Amino acid sequence: MKKIIIAPSILSADFANLERDIGIVEQAGADWIHVDVMDGHFVPNITIGAPVVKSLRKTSNLIFDVHLMISDPAKYWADFQKAGADIIVFHAEAVENPKDLLKTIKASGIKSGVSIKPDTPVSQIEDIIPFADIVLVMTVEPGFGGQSFMNAMVPKILRLRQIIDAGKYPCIIEVDGGINAQTSKICVQAGADALVSGNYIFGAPNIKQAIDCLR
Ligand code: DX5
Ligand code: ZN
Repeated sequence: MKKIIIAPSILSADFANLERDIGIVEQAGADWIHVDVMDGHFVPNITIGAPVVKSLRKTSNLIFDVHLMISDPAKYWADFQKAGADIIVFHAEAVENPKDLLKTIKASGIKSGVSIKPDTPVSQIEDIIPFADIVLVMTVEPGFGGQSFMNAMVPKILRLRQIIDAGKYPCIIEVDGGINAQTSKICVQAGADALVSGNYIFGAPNIKQAIDCLR
């Protein structure tokens, strides 16, 4: 069986203790740290920017998976790359030419990915999958942690799995939103490779148990 990548979202961590909370999930076996960047424009919430990523970079060796929920990722992605992001995922809905941005980010030496909101069909990104290291399927409306998983997104995971396997593309399927002990199984069965989880992991009485359970 393949090893599922677990990416705790620090959106649900204690912002006054990010270093401590990243250390806790690192100790508990997390693979990536998922950083949700929101600009109050692409989504109705504002979180953190590149300076915070730069400071956190010094505290952890985990892979930093930066999810840009911003209106102009082409303008800002490089700030996050310089701050130490290992992966930058932007939204297909936010750019006119996602293929070019995927290539540009990749050319900087890090991994690049594209994300789709619940209303965006897989067909809209189908032709750029060969250029993406990651496709991130949103299983909630982006903007806030702690929302309920949208079951209607499962066919999108299945479809992506088909496309990626048929084309033998080196592309990972990441799922984000409402992931817990139950919904993680549904996603992995449908073909997900990486699971983002905020509320379930950081709200758990035993974080190691929660991560083991997702995996
Ligand atoms: C939502 C973010 C998610 C969110 C996941 O806009 O992209 O990464 O923090 O949190 P949970 O697991 O609580 O849904
Ligand atoms: Zn996210």
